[in-house]
Amino acid sequence: MTTHNNPKILVIHGPNLNMLGKREPEIYGKETLDDINHKITLKGSEISLAVETFQSNHEGAVVEKIQSAMGNFNGLIINPAAFTHTSVAIRDAVLLLDMPVIEVHLSNIYKREPFRHKSMLADVVTGQIAGLGTIGYILALEAIADMVQKPK
Ligand code: DQA
Repeated sequence: MTTHNNPKILVIHGPNLNMLGKREPEIYGKETLDDINHKITLKGSEISLAVETFQSNHEGAVVEKIQSAMGNFNGLIINPAAFTHTSVAIRDAVLLLDMPVIEVHLSNIYKREPFRHKSMLADVVTGQIAGLGTIGYILALEAIADMVQKPK
């Protein structure tokens, strides 16, 4: 298994996801963001992906991180958290990318308050996973591995 040339996948977590474990555990589960990032990184190495994780509570920081993926990463997995429902800026940043982008939500946003039913990203991403908890990130990695490792 090579490591040097492994495709690079960026995983972005939006606002309040740094509080996972403490934050509404009945909705988001008991795992912390560190637990989740550890699982994601481990899964990445098992399937020959180099994974970098990033979390911010600031919209501009998320936009800049997405911009930084241009030319530096082969795929993006993003849980924009509350920005999902509001951010034209994050949507526009995603539109810059020529790579697979998977939107992940721990909870099923369509089963929750009406304001969560609208995703500003849903129609510009490659696909979306919602409501499966932490495993959603693992499934997103598997899907993205299939996309980036297959010759076009
Ligand atoms: C979330 C759902 C959003 O509505 C919410 O604001 C979050 C987390 C999820 O992972 O289920 O912060 O993106």
